Amino acid sequence: MRILCITGPNLNLLGLRETGIYGKVTLADITKLLEHLAKNLSVDFDSYQSNHEGELVDKVQQCLGSNYDGILINPGAYGHTSIALRDALKAVSLPFVEVHVSNVYAREEFRHKTYLSDFASGVVIGFGPNSYLLGLRGLVEVLHEITNRA
Ligand code: DQA
Repeated sequence: MRILCITGPNLNLLGLRETGIYGKVTLADITKLLEHLAKNLSVDFDSYQSNHEGELVDKVQQCLGSNYDGILINPGAYGHTSIALRDALKAVSLPFVEVHVSNVYAREEFRHKTYLSDFASGVVIGFGPNSYLLGLRGLVEVLHEITNRA
């Protein structure tokens, strides 16, 4: 089983950026924790971060015909704005779990909608860096269920 974790704009500044909301843990720290968890769950794991919408779309598109089984994604602000990212995820049609570090429902109203949630396998919101780890666990379970059903 192989999973790609995609992280969107400004999340490269985790640990520095609005620490009252996002905390002091960096994306590098989260990636290390994810790699460790992936090993424990016996899944191959790659990660990618970009601040650019088109690059995120390209990365999702590269999953077409690849050997990735699922995507863990924190789209950052593009979750609230990007129909292009939605269309790319629809096009590759892989199971994906959407995660957000902060509780977007406790924040500005424009963060209450995302263009991904309605067709995600699951959404994990508001657990700080743990959102990523819970999301990875959930995605692996979803993928096991799909394999067992086949
Ligand atoms: C975020 C929430 C988004 O609303 C915001 O634009 C981000 C980070 C989160 O992980 O909490 O950049 O995706």
